[in-house]
Amino acid sequence: MTMADNSPQRVVLVTGASSGIGLLCAERLAAKGWRVFGGARNVSAPIPVSDFNIQWLPMDVTEDASVCTAIDRILTTAGRIDAIVNSAGYSMRGSVEDVPMEEARAIFETNFLGALRVCRAAAPTLRARGGYIVNISSLAGLIGLPFTAHYCASKFALEGFSESLRYEMAPHGVHVSLVEPGDYRTGIQASRRISKETQQGIYARAFDSFLLKREAFEARAATAEPVAALVEKILEDPAPSLRYVVAMPAQGVLPLLRRLLPQAVYEFCFRRLLGLN
Ligand SMILES: NC(=O)c1ccc[n+]([C@@H]2O[C@H](COP(=O)([O-])OP(=O)(O)OC[C@H]3O[C@@H](n4cnc5c(N)ncnc54)[C@H](OP(=O)(O)O)[C@@H]3O)[C@@H](O)[C@H]2O)c1
Repeated sequence: MTMADNSPQRVVLVTGASSGIGLLCAERLAAKGWRVFGGARNVSAPIPVSDFNIQWLPMDVTEDASVCTAIDRILTTAGRIDAIVNSAGYSMRGSVEDVPMEEARAIFETNFLGALRVCRAAAPTLRARGGYIVNISSLAGLIGLPFTAHYCASKFALEGFSESLRYEMAPHGVHVSLVEPGDYRTGIQASRRISKETQQGIYARAFDSFLLKREAFEARAATAEPVAALVEKILEDPAPSLRYVVAMPAQGVLPLLRRLLPQAVYEFCFRRLLGLN
């Protein structure tokens, strides 16, 4: 046991902390007195200036060595980890036919296996004293969207993984939760990969119409403070739930409608909402 073990300050690692939801979570938790380690792929690149005390760590969630080194560095510096917020991720749009296999693998490597890698590396220390894992999923982890199959699949995988992990970790005092945001204005829109092949090929008309509808939704999206506030609430809850939807009402109701409506009725409404035939 190190000296730092006895410190009352709780320690959190936030992945994907250089931008968007991860950055807001890191800032909010630092403001609330947490000792925050922010994982970022490139700590030498300009990370948004933050008024809060965040300790930056180089961390690419697609690489085992990078993740293990980051966890070791936190344990050496702070002696403990009380919580993990897995926020690293990106989105992609394109048809199943057009998106190459290497891009399909790549999005799983970050959005799903990245979170799994971090959970694996942090599990022993979390188990030793109890703690929290919050995985940032998406509404797209609850409902399928056309031309978003790879992103949806990566988030559906994260959902199943987190639900399973929750059973394994609960007896050790580790709470596993999923946060399922709708559209929020972050870096995700600019970094999104859009398939040129789908824009030009057989699906071009449907894809174009889908992109227009989605862009209209995203144009109304708010900044992601509600997501960070929810993450903080989960980390303060002695018994957090498995799933938390956070979205504007018109989006947040979709998983419920998908469950309650007959499939044909839901599909008809959803197609209209998305501007599809
Ligand atoms: N914004 C939304 O509308 C929305 C909705 C639902 C779910 N989400 C989920 O929220 C999470 C955060 O996204 P965001 O909206 O905050 O987007 P963002 O602003 O683009 O942030 C994504 C973060 O992930 C990091 N990242 C990407 N690949 C990485 C890797 N291999 N290793 C480590 N970090 C990596 C990025 O780091 P770099 O700076 O190095 O690229 C960035 O810090 C994602 O999992 C996303 O799927 C977002």
